Amino acid sequence: MTSQKELEILRESLRQHNYRYHVLDAPIISDGEYDRLLHELKAIEAEHPEWITPDSPSQRAGAPPASKFDKVPHPAPILSLANAFGAEDTRAWFERICKLDERVKEATFTVEPKLDGLTVVLHYSDGIFVQGATRGDGEVGEDITANLRTIKAIPLKIPIESSKKRERSSQPSLFFQDQFPIPNHLVVRGEVFITHEEFNRLNERQEEAGAKTYLNPRNTAAGALRQLDSRVTATRPLTLFIYQIVHAEGGEVPNSQWERLEYLKELGFPVNPDSRHFKRLDETIQFVEGWEDDRLQLPYEADGIVIKIDDRILSDSLGIVGKDPRGSIAYKFPSLEVTTTLNDIQVEVGRTGVLTPKAMLEPVEINGVIVRNATLHNFDFIAEKDIRIGDRVLLKRAGEVIPYIIASIAEARSGQERPITPPSNCPACHEPVEKIQDEVAYYCVNAACPAQLIRNIEHFVSRTAMDIVGMGGKIVAQLVQAGLLGDVADLYTLQKEDLLKLEGFKEKKATNLLTSIEASKEQSLERLLTGLGIRGVGEAVARDLVEYFGDLDSLLSATQADLEAIEGIGPNIALTIVDWGLSAHNEQILEKLRDADLNLAVGKQHAAPQEQALTGLTFVITGTLPTMSRKEAKEYILARGGKVTGSVSSKTDYLLAGEKAGSKLTKAENLGVEIIREDALKTI
Ligand code: IVH
Repeated sequence: MTSQKELEILRESLRQHNYRYHVLDAPIISDGEYDRLLHELKAIEAEHPEWITPDSPSQRAGAPPASKFDKVPHPAPILSLANAFGAEDTRAWFERICKLDERVKEATFTVEPKLDGLTVVLHYSDGIFVQGATRGDGEVGEDITANLRTIKAIPLKIPIESSKKRERSSQPSLFFQDQFPIPNHLVVRGEVFITHEEFNRLNERQEEAGAKTYLNPRNTAAGALRQLDSRVTATRPLTLFIYQIVHAEGGEVPNSQWERLEYLKELGFPVNPDSRHFKRLDETIQFVEGWEDDRLQLPYEADGIVIKIDDRILSDSLGIVGKDPRGSIAYKFPSLEVTTTLNDIQVEVGRTGVLTPKAMLEPVEINGVIVRNATLHNFDFIAEKDIRIGDRVLLKRAGEVIPYIIASIAEARSGQERPITPPSNCPACHEPVEKIQDEVAYYCVNAACPAQLIRNIEHFVSRTAMDIVGMGGKIVAQLVQAGLLGDVADLYTLQKEDLLKLEGFKEKKATNLLTSIEASKEQSLERLLTGLGIRGVGEAVARDLVEYFGDLDSLLSATQADLEAIEGIGPNIALTIVDWGLSAHNEQILEKLRDADLNLAVGKQHAAPQEQALTGLTFVITGTLPTMSRKEAKEYILARGGKVTGSVSSKTDYLLAGEKAGSKLTKAENLGVEIIREDALKTI
C-alpha cells in the first residue's frame, strides 16, 4: 500500500528526471528506467484516481478529443515587434527612442534569437500549470491546455523542487527566487517549435512508414498545437523556450529582462541558451551580425534576433506603436527563399522501398551555399501544388533541413512545362511499383531490388548503427554491384582477395575496411538491432527493446501482445517486428550474424565500450584550420568519442578555432569557453 506522501516523492522524482532530460539536456537515468517509474506512477493512480493531481507527470499523455477550443482572454496584450533590416535600421531605432527618453542612452540590451515558432501563453496558479493559450488576436487566444501539457519541456509545476536543492548545493544561485517570491499567479509567454534534428527524425519515420512527410517545422508545430485530440499532439516532438513574463500577481519579479530570463530558468522553465546581455549597442549589433552569418547553425529555425531594452520599466514607458512596443525590435535576417527552375525530377528508392521524388534544380545560391537538389516530399504533394518540370519554383533553405520547394509559380509558365506522374516501374530494378492503401507513398516491393539493398546496408554501417568507419555509400554500392553483398551479414564474410579485385582498392584500403568490419562485431545489441532496419525500430525503440528482452531470440519470439505491453510500442511496430522475425530470409541473415559472432544478446557483449580520449567533451569548430578541413576535424573528434555542435553555449567544452574565426570566437570568449588550435586538439 502506497501512501499519498510516497506518491508525491515518486512524482517529484519523475519531474526532476523529466526536467533534466527535456530542459537541461542532461539525463541521469535511461529512458527505460524513466518509463518504469512512470508506469509505477500510473499503476498507483489507477488504483487511487482520487489522488491524481493536474501537475502529475502522468497527465502529459493527452486527453480525449475536444470538440472545439474555448476562448481565453490574455491578462495583458500579447504584442508583436517592429522589424529592423540591418545595422543602420537598428541604429535609427535606437536614436528614435533616445530622443523620447534621455535614460535610454545608458540602457543595456538583452538579445534573444527570434524563433520562428508559435507564441503560447502559460498560466501558473500557486505554482501549478493551469491553462495555456495561443496568441489569437493578441487580446483573446484559444485554450490549448491539453495539448501544451503533452510538451515535456513545459513544467507542470514550478519551481522544480529538487532542482532547487541541487542548485543550492552546487552554486549559491537561488538569488532570484530568494529575492523574488514566486507570484501566486504567473503568466509567461514562449515560443513552441520543433528542432531541425527532431523534424528530420520525424520525417524519416514518416517516410519509412509510407506516410506523408511534413513540409516544414513551423507548420508541423502549428498543426500539432491545433489538434483537437491531444493524444496526437503528444506524438509530435514539440519543445519551447520561455522569454517573457506577461503578468505577475501576488509577488514580484526582477525588472531587468536579462535577470528575468535567469529567474525563469531558476523556476524550471526552458530558456534559450543563445540569449545574451550587452552594455552597448555597438557590441549588440556586432553579435547580431555574427548570427546573421551563422544562423543556419542554430538547431532551430530563427528568422532574426530580438533586441530588447533590458530595463523593462523604462522599455514599457516608451509606449507602443500599433501592436509593437518601442522598447524592443526584431533584427530580421535576409530571407532564405529564392526562385529557381525545376529542371527535372529523380526518383530515389528508400530502404523500405518507398519512392521519393527529388527535385533537380537550376543551381542557385542561398546564404552562401549552392543548392542543386531539394525534396518534393511525395507525389501527392506534387499533384496538390501542381508542380511541373520546367516550372519556376519557390525554394527555401533552413538549417539542417534539406532545402524544400514551397510552391510553383504558375504565372511564370511558358506552356512548355511537363506534368509529373508517379513512375509505374522502380527506377532501380524496373519491377512494377505498388501503392499501398491508406499510404501516400509508392513502393518498390521487389525484395531483391538492389537500390533497397544498398540503402539497407548503408543504414547498417551508419554511425547510429554499426558505425563501420570508412564504409560510405559509394563503397556499399560498389560491393553490391560486384555481387559481394547480398545482405548485411555478407559484410562479415568479405575476403581481401575479392576486395583487391575492385577498382580503387589497394592493400591498405582493403585491410582498413576489413579491420573496421571486424571491429564492428563488438558493437552492442542495441546498435545491431537499429542496424537491421526493422520499420519503426530506430535508436530509441531499439534501446527499449534491448532493455526489455535482453537478447534477439526472446525479442523475435515475442507475440504482438507481449510487444505492445512495452511503453511506446504501438500495434504497428509490434506487428512489423513479429513479421520481420517470421521471414525465412531474415532468419538466414540472423544465422549468418550468429556465425560471425556478433552480439545477439546483451550478456554476450564482449567488453564495455571503451572510454575514449574525447568522451563527454563537446566541441564547436570555427574558422579555417591549418591542416584539416572542418569535416575532417569533426570526424576526428567523433571518432574519439567527442561531440560536435554548431553553436557555442555554456555546454561547450572547447572551441576549435582556426583563421578568420568570427562571432563564435567572441561568443566563446564571452562565455569563458576554452579556445584551442588544431595542434592542441591532438593533445587532449
Ligand atoms: S518578444 C513585446 N522575444 O516573434 C514582446 N518575440 O512579432 C514581443 N518571437 O510572434 C515579443 N522569439 O512570437 C520576442 N525571444 C523572443 C521571440 C519572439 C520569437 C516571436 C513572437 C512574435 C514575433 C514578434
